[in-house]
Amino acid sequence: MSTIYPVVWSNNKVLLIDQTCLPSQYTLVEISRYEDMAKAIKTMIVRGAPAIGVAAAYGIYLGAREINTKDRETFLKSLEEVAETLRQTRPTAVNLFWAISRMLKTAYETIGTIEEITAILLETAKKIQEEDLQTCQAIGKNSLSILPSHPDKLTILTHCNAGALATAGYGTALGVIRSAWTAGRLKRVYADETRPRLQGAKLTAWECVQEKIPVTVISDNMAAHCMQKGLIDMVVVGADRIAANGDAANKIGTYGLAVIAKMHQVPFYVAAPLSTVDFSLETGQLIPIEERDASELYQVGNTVIYPDGVDYYNPAFDVTPAELITGIITEEKTVKPVELITLKHFV
Ligand code: MRU
Repeated sequence: MSTIYPVVWSNNKVLLIDQTCLPSQYTLVEISRYEDMAKAIKTMIVRGAPAIGVAAAYGIYLGAREINTKDRETFLKSLEEVAETLRQTRPTAVNLFWAISRMLKTAYETIGTIEEITAILLETAKKIQEEDLQTCQAIGKNSLSILPSHPDKLTILTHCNAGALATAGYGTALGVIRSAWTAGRLKRVYADETRPRLQGAKLTAWECVQEKIPVTVISDNMAAHCMQKGLIDMVVVGADRIAANGDAANKIGTYGLAVIAKMHQVPFYVAAPLSTVDFSLETGQLIPIEERDASELYQVGNTVIYPDGVDYYNPAFDVTPAELITGIITEEKTVKPVELITLKHFV
């Protein structure tokens, strides 16, 4: 059981673990205004698809309580503006849009005073957070039946951070790993460093160290070598958005990992809540891919590591085609990507 909660509602404000400071500093950032929440999402103080959704839900509530009117129409119009500011933060993780839509729907469907609507928005944000925690635990539990059989214990490779820090707590891919660890099925985690922002080295490794799960960090270009050497029994990653056909967008480098896993017959699983599935998109080619600032590539700390005069391309995510994915582990059950559509009625 993880005790890492990236988003906490306390004393009328939101506390975020500043994920840009880990692992060297554990700092909490207080957020009381929706614009600060939007900034925190954009600058990745809070990151990871489900955690972004939870943060945005609280952002909608913070925005609602900042609106100074008693008129319902004026209130809803201003709330739409708050929602739009939050939507403009990060384009790929669909949980952001999913959580904002759910909050707006609640506001529109609540008949009552502005104070009553605002109070219900806070309860809804808390509910989204609580549900995500339970969902991640269910994903972990469901994954136990698909863990490959092994004469000893498993070594699982993961990419980026799909852990407690990226969700309400517990994690999706790292939730699978936590469950395997608790069940006595895990020997070791291999964590891809995950260039350029190093979420694997900084965040996944930190979470593992907190819980004494043995972890080996490798740079991204070592994964093929590790698989060739027979060091990896299974790959499990999270997702930022999954299309109806099972194509899955996740942190840049995930697609390459899936290709080499296929080459070495290593099972490749995506662990994600159904709130990450965008059934409105037929294929992964329609998923918007965020491009981030080039400084993430050329700067390490305060040092510029590339020569002047080069061009940059810094996509934050890539899309793994469904045919490379062994299974998608959800809170309902694990399905083959082609069967994902059968879970649509749960959403
Ligand atoms: O850019 P980030 O750090 O927000 O990207 C995070 C990922 O790609 C995660 O793997 C994904 O959001 C799944 S989180 C449970």
